Amino acid sequence: MNTFRYIIALLPFVPSFLLLIQIIILEEDCSKYIGWIYHPSSDKGKIEGESTVLINESPTPHVGSQLLIYMVVATLGYLATDNLIPKIKVYTLRKGICGKDMGKQGTSTADKCIPEALGIVPGAIFLICLILCLVGYASLFPSKLLDCNSALLSICFMIFLGFTDDVLDWPWRYKLFLPSIASLPLLCCYNGSTSVIVPIQLRSYLMQDGELTLFGALLCYFVTVDENSDGSILNLGVWYLLYMGLLAVFCTNAINIYAGINGLEAGQAYIIGCAVILHNLIEIKAGGLSQDNHVFSAMIMLSFVGVTLALLKHNFYPASVFVGDTFCYFAGMAFAVVGILGHFSKTLLLFFIPQILNFLWSTPQLFKFVPCPRHRLPKFNATSGLMEPSTFTCKSNEYLWLKSKRNQEKTEVVNMTLINFTLQVFGPLNEKSLCIVLLLGQALCCAFGLFFRYHIAQFFFDE
Ligand code: UD1
Ligand code: MG
Repeated sequence: MNTFRYIIALLPFVPSFLLLIQIIILEEDCSKYIGWIYHPSSDKGKIEGESTVLINESPTPHVGSQLLIYMVVATLGYLATDNLIPKIKVYTLRKGICGKDMGKQGTSTADKCIPEALGIVPGAIFLICLILCLVGYASLFPSKLLDCNSALLSICFMIFLGFTDDVLDWPWRYKLFLPSIASLPLLCCYNGSTSVIVPIQLRSYLMQDGELTLFGALLCYFVTVDENSDGSILNLGVWYLLYMGLLAVFCTNAINIYAGINGLEAGQAYIIGCAVILHNLIEIKAGGLSQDNHVFSAMIMLSFVGVTLALLKHNFYPASVFVGDTFCYFAGMAFAVVGILGHFSKTLLLFFIPQILNFLWSTPQLFKFVPCPRHRLPKFNATSGLMEPSTFTCKSNEYLWLKSKRNQEKTEVVNMTLINFTLQVFGPLNEKSLCIVLLLGQALCCAFGLFFRYHIAQFFFDE
């Protein structure tokens, strides 16, 4: 039974694993690995005064051997996290950092304290894994050291803020802004491009016959339209930094509010992580100028997926630990960092389709146009053993637009989350099945995202 669970859990990683093996075995001379492990920078860099230059001009030195090392580190990360969670949960319980499993209300286990904030374990192990990986990475790509350190600092900062949230339980208005503070190190150190490519269909609105249109001229008050590229490139300048900050705020909060049933937080992060790695490996295999960005992202994501899988093992139904806001924020920031520094934030957003839908559907409650109870997770019906949509109370003549035609008089309205919506569509489900349905939806959205990126995006962007 356990073996079957492991096989199912590893399925999302299988495509990436096969591609990884292909890159490692087919494209590399195996003797290089040993040399790289013992002398990671032996044939790559030499010190010339203050600066380090690459002797080998190839933009991707020994990619296969690097990926192999990252894979080994990720596996160690998995083992360490899996081993430490049962030990650390004793400490969090002792300090009273725990929560009641609301999906078990009315059962004999309803009053059991489940250790909370165990995201701190994968978070800490992830940081150690990343620091180990960076030793090799930075010697191969010295110019990327600033990116690496700012990524590390932002993720570290977010884990810290997430943990304070779990311990202190910040009000919602603070929760929204914590990620923007944590993304500051990333934004301040960012020295990459601030330009975006304009979709082909929109370029004629910016420039026509080599001249700026009225709209293009107006836009130039805020951003720079690249006239040499015929309006195909828009330099957003400081707005790009704002976009990056908002991306961090979105990714972290989007995972945190798509939560509340055993295994969902860690499960969605694991599947998105696998999709990001697959995208990175496809790009690495294809070669090209952005290859080192994707190696950087794969380095971060492999360790991330390793530690998250271990957390999922303990958080899946019936959960023995809760991941806490520590994990939701840490995961969101890790995705924002790879999306920004890997320059594939649009593709990343394609993997976030369920979270985007959940966020959009939640906005009336998040911005208090509609009452928002402290918890919107589905309610457990102890008689049937199934999860049902949770509700908020209102007057019979209020929020008629949220009530079906038959129920206009009702004083209970279903909370506006994708989880409740899924229960409305499929009918009541037990917690485990509900989580599996939602994770299958996540996997389908990621598959669609990859399909869109590689088969449909070319109609909008010329590469
Ligand atoms: C967010 C959601 C809230 C949801 C909560 C669940 C919004 C605006 N906020 O709040 O609706 O109820 O996440 O994570 O959408 N819990 C379970 N089973 C689980 C996971 C969590 O019962 O599988 C409960 C536990 O009591 C746990 C608590 O949720 O202690 C954690 O809630 P917390 O992360 O503090 O909630 P928020 O992130 O503020
Ligand atoms: Mg939470």
